[in-house]
Amino acid sequence: MGLELAYSDDVARATEALYAKVSGVIPKIEWPAYAPVIAEINRLKRQKDAVILAHNYMTPEIFHCVGDFVGDSLALAREAARTDAKIIVQAGVHFMAETSKILSPEKTVLIPSMEAGCSLAASITGADVRLLKQKYPGLPVVTYVNTSADVKAESDICCTSGNAVKVVEAIAREFGVDTVIMIPDKYLARNVAAQTGVKVITWEGACEVHERFTAQEIRDYRTAHPGIVVLAHPECPPEVVAEADFAGSTAAMINYVGAHKPRRVVMVTECSMSDNVAVEYPQVEFVRPCNLCPHMKRITLNGILHSLQTMTFEVTVPAEIAARAKTPIDRMLAVKL
Ligand code: 13P
Ligand code: SF4
Repeated sequence: MGLELAYSDDVARATEALYAKVSGVIPKIEWPAYAPVIAEINRLKRQKDAVILAHNYMTPEIFHCVGDFVGDSLALAREAARTDAKIIVQAGVHFMAETSKILSPEKTVLIPSMEAGCSLAASITGADVRLLKQKYPGLPVVTYVNTSADVKAESDICCTSGNAVKVVEAIAREFGVDTVIMIPDKYLARNVAAQTGVKVITWEGACEVHERFTAQEIRDYRTAHPGIVVLAHPECPPEVVAEADFAGSTAAMINYVGAHKPRRVVMVTECSMSDNVAVEYPQVEFVRPCNLCPHMKRITLNGILHSLQTMTFEVTVPAEIAARAKTPIDRMLAVKL
């Protein structure tokens, strides 16, 4: 950190209200390291006409202190399509930045680390989808947004965990079929099939964070904390979802806590979620076994600053792929929830 980024009285004053917000999850001793970086990021955003789209898995100093729009994959995609800013900094993983670029091709889209990938996106290629379509002609391809642009380009419609049930029902109706190809998350596909009655042909992809949770773990939380409310992400295996009180996207889990204000809750998902939600609901006790997403954790506060200072790393999508990938994303955004 340069001299100009010292924790001065001015910085302390400018960031006072932000610290009041996150004081429950960021120790006071750490704040002087974060505050000057936060102040500089917020200054650069104004100077350069940039917005930061921050996913719910970002750490609290990013999520609460520099994120202009926070949310699940669906909310961030909607915001990317809507924002007037010249620059989008994606505080999330690469497929999210690609989605932003596809929806807002005239904007500069930056990601602080090109290595922020996703085990689901890495599990499948456009060529794999072409082979699946040859094998199952006539069936619609529903593609989770956690994929690369060339996979989306081969698809009929995209979905996120926030709209997967509605998307699958809508596309099965439109094609007049009882089976869809739903890629690449085998667990999300099975969870959606169980909720819709639509049959799925899926792919051997899984989220390396959510596939590690087990049904036994959930039963153990219930034994250790009687009355606990269990919320799970639908990327978890179906037997884990079956043990939960509610399963939904990261935003749906947050909304559940807001609506029900359980006394004690466990969010069966990535670690930063509970920290971020705890800031909003200090009266709720969060039991915090969790798994870290190594890809999401490549996005750091210093990385975001570097990104804005140097205008790196720019995410681009070849025009021909972007044009074909936009159709299934637009089709997804048009599905009424
Ligand atoms: P959401 O769309 O629920 O935010 O999920 C994205 C993701 O990567 C979950 O692992
Ligand atoms: Fe991908 Fe899982 Fe990380 Fe989400 S949590 S970005 S699905 S690896």
